Amino acid sequence: CGIVGYVGRPGHAHTALNVVLEGLRRLEYRGYDSAGVAVVADGAIDSRKKSGKLSNLLDEIEREPLPDAVTGIGHTRWATHGGPTDRNAHPHLADEGRLAVIHNGIIENFAELKAELLDAGHVFLSETDTEVAAALLARLYRSLADEVADPGQRLTTAMQRACQRLEGAFTLLAVHADAPDVVVAARRSSPLVVGLGEGENFLGSDVSGFIDYTRRAVELGQDQIVTITPEAMDITDFHGAPATGTEYQVDWDAAAAEKDGYSSFMLKEINEQPLAVEQTLMGRLDQHGNLMLDELRIDESILRSVDKIVVVACGTAAYAGQVAKYAIEHWCRIPTEVELAHEFRYRDPIVNEKTLVVAFSQSGETMDTLMAVRHAREQGAKVVSICNTNGSTIPRESDAVIYTHAGPEIAVASTKAFLSQIAAAYLLGLYLAQLRGTKFPDEVREVLRELQEIPAKIQTVLDAGGEVTDLARRMSDAESVLFLGRHVGYPVALEGALKLKEIAYIHAEGFAAGELKHGPIALVEEGQPVFVIVPSPRGRDSLHAKVVSNIQEVRARGAITIVIAEEGDEAVTPYANEVIRVPQAPVLLAPLLTTVPLQLFACQLADSKGYDVDQPRNLAKSVTVE
Ligand code: G6P
Repeated sequence: CGIVGYVGRPGHAHTALNVVLEGLRRLEYRGYDSAGVAVVADGAIDSRKKSGKLSNLLDEIEREPLPDAVTGIGHTRWATHGGPTDRNAHPHLADEGRLAVIHNGIIENFAELKAELLDAGHVFLSETDTEVAAALLARLYRSLADEVADPGQRLTTAMQRACQRLEGAFTLLAVHADAPDVVVAARRSSPLVVGLGEGENFLGSDVSGFIDYTRRAVELGQDQIVTITPEAMDITDFHGAPATGTEYQVDWDAAAAEKDGYSSFMLKEINEQPLAVEQTLMGRLDQHGNLMLDELRIDESILRSVDKIVVVACGTAAYAGQVAKYAIEHWCRIPTEVELAHEFRYRDPIVNEKTLVVAFSQSGETMDTLMAVRHAREQGAKVVSICNTNGSTIPRESDAVIYTHAGPEIAVASTKAFLSQIAAAYLLGLYLAQLRGTKFPDEVREVLRELQEIPAKIQTVLDAGGEVTDLARRMSDAESVLFLGRHVGYPVALEGALKLKEIAYIHAEGFAAGELKHGPIALVEEGQPVFVIVPSPRGRDSLHAKVVSNIQEVRARGAITIVIAEEGDEAVTPYANEVIRVPQAPVLLAPLLTTVPLQLFACQLADSKGYDVDQPRNLAKSVTVE
């Protein structure tokens, strides 16, 4: 879900409603099942909420305008408890409509609290756990009437007490009609950032919620409550003890979160990949060309003694992890496993002080991955995260972080973050190889030199993108598409299939090409489109020849073969209906090139079907619930 809060003074060029709606527009990628706002004006709360995308809420506000106000909160929802209906949309009101609450996360003990509040006579209007939190907060607020005279302070104290009762993961924002220039917020294991302005302050799920107004952001810690007024920000823990946040400067501007003339954020982000990878690699070499990873602040003796690496991640990030496994094992000779974070967490995995856990996460907020990180650390493992979002929770809870610096990724389907995660993982692998002496320094330097050439090669792939666009248009009626690859081409095949499922809603499967004969080949019949990712013919172990045979096998059974192969690889031409060329690169680095046509293909195909490429149905950019 996306969350925004604002308090200002009359006289600013913008009203609370402008700020909140603009913030929601920028945060809509975090969830778009419903949206809602509440403003505090003339001693009362006024709210509007609507199921579906933000545009529905805007229409509703046009029909039923909201008053001018200096305080407001807004929410865009990815449904968990209760379907995506108007009624279940946030804000939820309590205290006879004088208190409004929005929420991200899941309150695990909501049933117990609800029973208690029902007994006390509360009437619930929705099925959400949020309304339970609102009712609890209202009850505590009323009970403090004699104890705390100032309504703003009373709301803060009530929030502290409410949070002591709540279990689960949550970000909560509340406003009360009695306290017209106060927003109180709480966070536990769920994202929330403060934005500091002049005579106004902001809250957001991430900085894009207020990037139009300020670059000064404050990162909050775990289990903290923040109260903002136009002039001040006050942080405490759940028991009222004073606490502090960490202020930082947001280093990208609002323009970075705009489409820049592209038809979608996804297409823009695909085209930003040369720059994204360049930024991941930037500043990592010393003057002698040796790799330095300053941010890897884990004792070198610990890194030398690591005897196992476990990559944990979800979705696209997990496929980046699978690519990393091939490289890290080859360069470092450290056994490396890749596991979906939610499976890792709940199967009693064997991890200890000698395990290095590497968490891949674009957002740094994926709850499944966060839980895996916590579990690994509890078992004594060191955790390095590879992350794209500064100051997010996963890096904060890791022992070290390698930031990918790919810039904000807005489209729900991940593209540039994927390539940057792979590039960052290569840096980690090379660094460990250098440190542990499993590669000679000049071998490491040679791979680094090849890596530096990758951004220009990605640009070459993009420049030839017209062909892929034509292909996508011609194939827009496909009902099922298969993707095959071996070695690092295997995770690329999985990612190609995932992209097509996510945004074009086409049934797609990725397979290890060697596994084809053990089952999946039964799916192949006349006209079945099959993408094949072909490794460099200059690689070792006859991998290339094996994949060429696999192309023949499916072609012989009537498949339409779309082959992604290196420039100059003529061995594939006789068996390919279509060939998409990528520049030559070492086998292990090839995913940074071969993935790109698959991303473009999915993006253009979804676009030609008229789908919303950036906000595919049922998905959300960062899933902050388990
Ligand atoms: C969600 C998104 C995916 C993403 C995954 C992991 O499911 O829809 O696109 O790959 O989360 O996200 P993360 O932010 O942890 O990389």
